[in-house]
Amino acid sequence: MNFEAAKQRSLELKEQLDKWNYEYYVNDAPSVSDQKYDRVMQELIAIEQQYSELITIDSPTQRVSGQVSEKFNKYVHNTPMLSLGNAFNYDDLIHFDEQIKEATGLSEVEYTCELKIDGLSISLVYENNLLVVGATRGDGTTGEDVTVNIKKIKSIPLRIEQKDLVVRGEVYLSQEEFNKINDERIKLGEATFANPRNAAAGTLRQLDSAIVAKRNLNAFLYYYVNALEDGMQTQYEALKQLEHLKFKTNPEYRYCRNVAAVWEYIQEYEPKRHKLGYEIDGIVVKVNNLNLYNRIGYTAKNPKWAIAYKFPAEVVITKLLDIFPSVGRTGRITYNAVLEPVRIAGTVVRAATLHNADFIIARDIRIGDDVQIKKAGDIIPEVINYVAERRRKGTKKWQEATHCPECRTLLERVTGEVDQYCINSVCPKKITRGLEHYCSRNAMNIEGVSEKIIERLYKLGYLKSFSDLYKLDQYHAEIIQLENFGDKSFENMIVSINNSKQNSLERLLFGLGIRHVGQKTAKLLARQFKTMTELAAMSVEQLSVINDVGPIVAASVVDYFAIVANQQEIALLQERDVNMKYLVTNQTLSQKFENYRFVITGVLSKPREYFKDLIENYGGQVSDSVSAKTTYLLAGSDAGSKLVKAQKLNVKIINEKEFNNLITEEK
Ligand code: IVH
Repeated sequence: MNFEAAKQRSLELKEQLDKWNYEYYVNDAPSVSDQKYDRVMQELIAIEQQYSELITIDSPTQRVSGQVSEKFNKYVHNTPMLSLGNAFNYDDLIHFDEQIKEATGLSEVEYTCELKIDGLSISLVYENNLLVVGATRGDGTTGEDVTVNIKKIKSIPLRIEQKDLVVRGEVYLSQEEFNKINDERIKLGEATFANPRNAAAGTLRQLDSAIVAKRNLNAFLYYYVNALEDGMQTQYEALKQLEHLKFKTNPEYRYCRNVAAVWEYIQEYEPKRHKLGYEIDGIVVKVNNLNLYNRIGYTAKNPKWAIAYKFPAEVVITKLLDIFPSVGRTGRITYNAVLEPVRIAGTVVRAATLHNADFIIARDIRIGDDVQIKKAGDIIPEVINYVAERRRKGTKKWQEATHCPECRTLLERVTGEVDQYCINSVCPKKITRGLEHYCSRNAMNIEGVSEKIIERLYKLGYLKSFSDLYKLDQYHAEIIQLENFGDKSFENMIVSINNSKQNSLERLLFGLGIRHVGQKTAKLLARQFKTMTELAAMSVEQLSVINDVGPIVAASVVDYFAIVANQQEIALLQERDVNMKYLVTNQTLSQKFENYRFVITGVLSKPREYFKDLIENYGGQVSDSVSAKTTYLLAGSDAGSKLVKAQKLNVKIINEKEFNNLITEEK
């Protein structure tokens, strides 16, 4: 075929494929067989192979061709991607409605209700009719440019009949696709995804777009960013316009003439939520009239003209097959339920927590009972209670464990506490769990030593205490012989272990696992006493002078240092060059302004750079312009338009003194 003929033919094929694609993926009404579609696609691929200059960025072949990226580029959103405030019940909803009435002076407010799709939000940018960027939300200001992957979502048009557009929506995986992916992963012996949202997020950030093409991601679009400027008056019209532009919108949205109608919609959809074929976690209620949005305004994070009504955690009933205890690093015993597998919030659940013995005894929960299970968000499922009407004959009162499931030591109860404890200081599970905690990210941050590896090295006798970590290199020959443990992983592990020697004192203090010394207390202690030696010498009274360190914490610290085994372990760590001092570094400062965005304006006592450095040292960010995302406007004298904008957006405004207070106050 000559070039001109090929060009002409490729245009026809593209148009044909786009039409079929739309019918199939957006309208759910295919008009050709898969075979025919594939044949035409193959013809187009062949033409593009012959004349690569005919490959356009909107060619349907882009939806199937794969490409491996090294990483995704950052993408700064032109308008920040906000999140929504939550409502959990009728009262919250009424409160939301009342605030809008107050802001607008209306006696009744009209809304559009939509399903809250449980996926991940994306922003699509069209320029000159073409999809040029598809980006993830990221932190709302900066996301990742995942355009190659977005193009694999067949319901998203690559070309539209409008020159420019920014449209946002939710990428999701249907229940069916999710199950398919997980079934496949089980077959391949790979870890399964916990829920469709995680699977969708993992897929969208896949570096190999050929994998994405196979996974059938989908997307509902719901937010036409410049709707008002482009002539729409309501959210309802904006959705209609998106449909007109051939985007896939969720069909369940509804105009509601007042808050009562919104409540009806919510009640109608709650029982329907599991019959949709995709997961939703609530209802999004949006003021319908777009002209009101600026008047209603924004908080630092959310628009005030919309709210997410969250459904209560789902409760299901299943049979309790067994109860078994497990021991944690502190020796505390928790009880776990073995369940008849049951689907809840999109995943199959086989186990749940029963907390402690008192929890089970107080409710008289028995093995063989039908029990109610709840899973709130991503949190571990828990047993709520048994279903009395369904108690089976012959069930027996449950008896609490008397001995540690690991080392068989007699369990003890601490007076005033509900929990049972294994008090054996050399209980293997306590030791391995303690080591896991020591290595964890917020403690010594040692990478490459998973729970499995710790247990293996423990059993082999190479790793029985924290200080043993620092002489693991002696076992190089033995360890690299272990299954799945190459030279490289050994080397990485040792590097990470050695790096941990330089950590500031608070990480070590937290890692040691002293009772009642969490991350925050560890930091307070390290900051106050500076060295391990100093801290170890303190009395309960001396420790209690620190705000937030009460007598229980103080006593626990004193007890810890009084134990000879602990003293010996600390001496060994010191011998192996583990730092025992408080180091004032960016790392220790960094938490304070994490996720905070500052804008600096006006005349201050020192150059702006000085404040910028300070903010960044504490992990914050400084940007040039005020937006709804700004946490604080640091304003000196003679502040101008930024101040006005901050007031308008309800951004918190602080002066230099208040800023200094922020830095010095304890977090
Ligand atoms: S509107 C400024 N509509 O929920 C408007 N969001 O908690 C922002 N979501 O980040 C979003 N379905 O990822 C909107 N119909 C819907 C939605 C929806 C799901 C997600 C979205 C957003 C989050 C807010």
